[in-house]
Parts: sequence; structure tokens; C-alpha cells
Amino acid sequence: MTAKATFIQKSTEWVRKSRSVDANLKDYFKACKTFRWASVEKEFSWHKTKKVNIVHEIVDRHAEGARKNKVALYFWDPTPSGAHPSGRDEKYTFLDLKRLSSRFGNILKKYRIKKGDRVGVFLPRTPELYVSILGTHRVGAIPVPLFEAFMEAAIEDRLGNSEASFLVTTPELLRRVPWTRLKSLKHIILVQGEGAAAAPSLGPLSYHFYAEEMARASDFLEPVWLTLDDGLVIHYTSGSTGKSKGVLHRQYAMVGHYQTSKWSLDLREDDVYWCTADPGWVTGTSYGIYGPWSLGVSSVVLGGRFSADRWYEAIQKFQVTIWYSAPTAFRLLMAQGKELPKKYNLKSIRHICSVGEPLNPEALRWIRSITGKAPHETWWMTETGMHIICNYPSLDFKLGATGRSFPGTYASVVNDEGKEVPPNTLGHLVVRVGWPSMMKEIWKNKTKFEEYFKIKGWYLSGDTAYKDKEGFIWFAGRADDVIKTAGERVGPFEVESALIQHPAVAEAGVIGKPDEIRGQIVKAFVSLRKGYGASDILKKEISEFVKKNLAAHAAPREVEFVEKVPKTRSGKIMRRVLRAWDQGLPVGDISTMEE
Ligand code: WT7
Repeated sequence: MTAKATFIQKSTEWVRKSRSVDANLKDYFKACKTFRWASVEKEFSWHKTKKVNIVHEIVDRHAEGARKNKVALYFWDPTPSGAHPSGRDEKYTFLDLKRLSSRFGNILKKYRIKKGDRVGVFLPRTPELYVSILGTHRVGAIPVPLFEAFMEAAIEDRLGNSEASFLVTTPELLRRVPWTRLKSLKHIILVQGEGAAAAPSLGPLSYHFYAEEMARASDFLEPVWLTLDDGLVIHYTSGSTGKSKGVLHRQYAMVGHYQTSKWSLDLREDDVYWCTADPGWVTGTSYGIYGPWSLGVSSVVLGGRFSADRWYEAIQKFQVTIWYSAPTAFRLLMAQGKELPKKYNLKSIRHICSVGEPLNPEALRWIRSITGKAPHETWWMTETGMHIICNYPSLDFKLGATGRSFPGTYASVVNDEGKEVPPNTLGHLVVRVGWPSMMKEIWKNKTKFEEYFKIKGWYLSGDTAYKDKEGFIWFAGRADDVIKTAGERVGPFEVESALIQHPAVAEAGVIGKPDEIRGQIVKAFVSLRKGYGASDILKKEISEFVKKNLAAHAAPREVEFVEKVPKTRSGKIMRRVLRAWDQGLPVGDISTMEE
């Protein structure tokens, strides 16, 4: 095992909790012994009615009961746009969401979208994005959320692989959808851009305008009733080899979303909760939609790009009580200095959680110094669907430690043979199979799915970690070549494939390079074709090229020209060698390298 920790420092400093902390989970150790997932099933209507559909559990049952007029969604985006010259500041109650998602469901129904069909949702973070996802659930179809920054190649892979027949997008984003090559795609709904002038030419495809269709659609649509094993959502995520994989979750995952939102996020009836993640990533659905709304909690959604001022302002404006964000965001705020947060009242916050990458002690201390609350780690993955290892509001924890297994789950560290290792020994981070939100399958790829379960009885995360004597798990790094930049997962293969489309690029190898703010940045080693000379302008152009074709977050922030990209005799890129080059370290055994 050659894992290298980026930020983790072995610390012995504790975050101590006062005994009077009032948390939903009061006694972690007792819960580990007594808690059973089956007890959570009783919280859902389907337990009695046998009628399953997540939209009923997260919207309809509130809209039909005491939470009817409670605000489910506060949306704020002060950025002026053509359609909204003074920005947007809107509220939606559970009843509003029931009506709107019924309207959207009726549109889908009209175009014959049925249970199990895939609906691509490629929208900026707006209320329409949430309505589309909820409406898709209503007809039993499976949303495929696509992050707004994705460009043509990424969209083609994801919509192509999922064989989505319906797409919701905007006229602007539509320019990145290579619809001529997407054979399954039949209908497109455009949010904004109504009117003949904006009407695109889409050949045989039928397209319609969201506002017009919504205005005509009925407020009523009973959900299509499903089984607990039916599909919920597909999130595409990257591995170290090949194209992105479609992680399919099942309806039953709601059991995990609910309980982790209760015990780890500590959500309660009167909370105002802000999850900063986009629903294009799993955090933005599991904990931006399913978990909080299954508990009937009010959520804040902030549109537009990151801005430190606006983030602090959002906390103040909505009196946010629970904040779920990521280390990169915390570090970006930290980089803006101490004066800025002083301009805002951040006292409403009572609990903070963090996800996506290790939270370094400096970032934790800094956030604590401006809010009075320490961020709590949550470790999980697109594939696990829910929190697995966390620090809890009522439990002391060590600074830098990832935490302890969520009650009812068991995460551990094993060696290559699948045997659990003694304390303080580095190994594979694994989870005992059988938690409620575990992925159902990798869409149309049984082989990839099976790779996670090579060690019998365990789910193999791909992370390396160790457990200390007190039982805390410490994340150490990835065992594979997956890159984590600003908390987002990037597959080197996808970036390399995009790079070699550039006329100047002969070969490309991509790695994650340690970075103070982003955890890692994407770095590309590139060899040039004959006739192209190395220059800074070309570096920039190559990086821009990936930005335009794949996605901004996946574009290399650093490009280095090399004579040759190191490969094994069988043609595999030796990223281990690239990492050593990058750090100026010895390259180790290169006996398998091609001549
Ligand atoms: C990978 C999963 C599902 C949440 C968003 C990320 C890394 C996640 C932590 C944490 C250290 C973390 C791991 C994991 N990761 N949380 N608290 N501490 N690393 O989901 O994009 O599927 O990425 O993110 O490497 O394997 P994802």
C-alpha cells in the first residue's frame, strides 16, 4: 500500500462536547448496539400503505398534513439575468412543490415518459431543477442530474449511457448537448427562451417550453406507485479507468437518507438547513432533497457561483441553523480573511457538517473561530448513497479524524486479503455490505459493479485509511488514481481522452497534484505532436480545450510538457511515475516501463 495523505495530520487534539448538548442522537454507543434499520421503515407512509414513491414521502405527505404551508425551499440568486433582471428571491411551500411537481409530472406523462425511463436534468441550480427532479419521481421515472459545468463530451457520455429519452435544460446549456448523436433522446423541455426567436432547430426532436407547458398542466397527479427496489436516481461518477459510471440507487435508499439526516446532520423541525452542494452530485440529492425533505425541514438553495460575501449573507439572511458544505469551500472562505465574516451575523448556526475530502484542522479551527461551531466530518461516496463514517454532534472527536461508523453500519480497514488490520495500520477502507442506501447497480455495467465487492462481504471503497486505538477511522488517501479536486471526483481517463482530441497533443497522462485550497488540482503531462512547439500559450489553450469539451472543474490547472508519457509495456499510463516527477521524488521500480 503506497497511500500518501494530503492533509491528514495525526493530531491528539480533541473537540470536546458539553454534556448538555441537545442532539437527536444522544448516546452513540448505545445506538450502535440497539439500533435497527427496520425501525426507521415505520417513519414512512409505505410501511402501512405499501405504496412506494419517494415524492410522496418528501413532498406529498407534508403537503397533505400539518406542514402544508411550511416553506420547503428558499431560493436566492441575486445575480441579475435576462429573465430575472433583479435576481431571484423566492419561497416554495410543500404544497407549492406538490402542485409544481404534479404539473411537471403531467408534462412527462403527456410525452409518454413511464416508470423506469431516464430523464436528463441539465439545469443551473434553480427551483426548476428541483421541480423537474420531483416531477420525474412522480411518474416513477429516474432522474439523471447533470452538473451545469459539463460540456459536450461529458454530456454525450452520460445521456448516451443512460439512454435518456427526455431532457430538461435551458437554451444556453442546450448548445452543449450533442443531440444528433443521442439516439434515445426524443423530447426536450427548455426552461426559458420562449418565443420564436429563441426556437432552436432540433431536427426530428420535439421540444417544448417549460413555462408554457407548466401553465397548461394540471396541479394534480397521483404518484406512480413503485416497489422499494425500483430505481431512484442515477449519478455519474468517475473511477480510475474508463468512462464515468452511472450509479443507480433504489427507492429504499430513503431509509438511509432519513436516519442519517436525523442523527448526523441533526435536522429538526424548526431548522433552516443549507446544503451547498448542487444536485448534479450525490450530496445535492441525498442531502439537498431526499434526506431533509423526508424530515419536512426547510432548505435554502443559493443559485449562482461561489462568492464569500454572498455565502455569509445567505447564512445571515435565512438564519441558517444547519450548514452542510465542503473543505474547499471552507478554505476559500478562509482565504478571504477574518474581516469579511465580521460584517455578518452568523450566530444562527448550531451545527456544521463537511464532506467530499478530508477536513484539515486549520480549516476546522477557522470555521469554528467565525461561527463558534466546529465542522463535523461525514465520509461517504456516490456509491454508498448516505453517510457511513461521521463525527456526531453529541460525541467528542479528534481533530482530523474522519469519525466512526454510523449506527447500523460497520466500516473497517482490511489488508489485501480482506482481513481486518490492527490499530494504526494502513489498509483498504471497507464497509460491511447491507446498509439501506447502497447503490443498486452500475448502470449497464455488471463488471464494474462487481469490482466493488471483490472482498466477500465487504464493499471496497477505493480509499485507504487506518483505525486508531480509540476506534476512530482516519482517511489516508485513495488507493487508485481517482482525483479529488475541490471535493469533486475526476477520472484521469476522461481528462486524458479529452486532451488527446487536441491537435497538438500526442499523448497525455493526468494526475491529482496536492493543493492548499482545492485538496488536489488536475495536472496533465502532455507530449506534443511533431510540428508543435511548447509554449505557455499552448498550455493555456490545451487547458481551455478541456474546459470547453469536458467540464471546467476537470480542466488541468497545470500542464507540463514531456518528451514521452511513461507507459507500461502493455500501454497503461504509469501515473505513479508522473506523481513522482511532479513531486521531484525518485520514481521507484520502472522495470515494466516501455522502452
Ligand atoms: C470520495 C467519494 C458522497 C459525498 C461527496 C463525495 C472522498 C468523501 C470524505 C471525507 C475524506 C472524503 C473519498 C471518497 N471523501 N468524504 N469526509 N474525508 N475523504 O462523493 O464524489 O463519490 O467521492 O470522496 O475519497 O471515496 P464522491
